[in-house]
Amino acid sequence: MNDIIKNIKERRSIRKFKEEQIKEEEIQTIIEAGIYAPSAHNQQPWHFTVIQNKNIISEMNEESKKAMKNHSDEWIAKLGNNEKFDIHYNAPTVILVSGKKDCYSPIVDVSAAIQNMLLAADSIGVGSCWVGLSKFGLIEEDKVKQFNIPDGYEPYYTVALGYKALDKKQNAPKRNEDVVNYIK
Ligand SMILES: Cc1cc2nc3c(=O)[nH]c(=O)nc-3n(C[C@H](O)[C@H](O)[C@H](O)COP(=O)(O)O)c2cc1C
Repeated sequence: MNDIIKNIKERRSIRKFKEEQIKEEEIQTIIEAGIYAPSAHNQQPWHFTVIQNKNIISEMNEESKKAMKNHSDEWIAKLGNNEKFDIHYNAPTVILVSGKKDCYSPIVDVSAAIQNMLLAADSIGVGSCWVGLSKFGLIEEDKVKQFNIPDGYEPYYTVALGYKALDKKQNAPKRNEDVVNYIK
């Protein structure tokens, strides 16, 4: 197996992090991998906000959970009501990834960037988790303002980053296999 395939297959969503902050050069490597993602018409419609302020990360958790509490999906409501649950798993760095709304496919392009970031993080020993639950706390305009996202951009996802606090390697959740057909 070559290194790229190994990286793709062995990356896992990490949900337990050490308190220690990751290095600035690691963040730069991860973001650079993001900006080398493909994008429709090469519009590169992404923006990255690196958040390392504990109070702000904690507020993001509280805001999201407040909105999740009464959700119609039972599992979302349950997480919203779980006092111990932290949407970013107490990661020391959270990167908010936003997309330029008037582009062809900002969510798709941002998602490609995020996948590159997760793989890059894994390749340099940094654990990561793509977090969609953060969106619940990113709806109200006055809450979003503090992130200084450029005009015309919308926050889509966050990525939790930190050194892994796991004793052993995680197994991949089972993949569905019946997902391919050929037309010859
Ligand atoms: C769009 C998107 C949103 C996600 N949101 C969350 C999230 O809010 N919390 C979380 O723990 N994992 C989240 N994940 C991670 C998935 O749960 C994870 O990728 C999946 O279970 C497969 O596990 P793996 O990443 O270890 O292969 C998200 C993944 C994607 C692609």
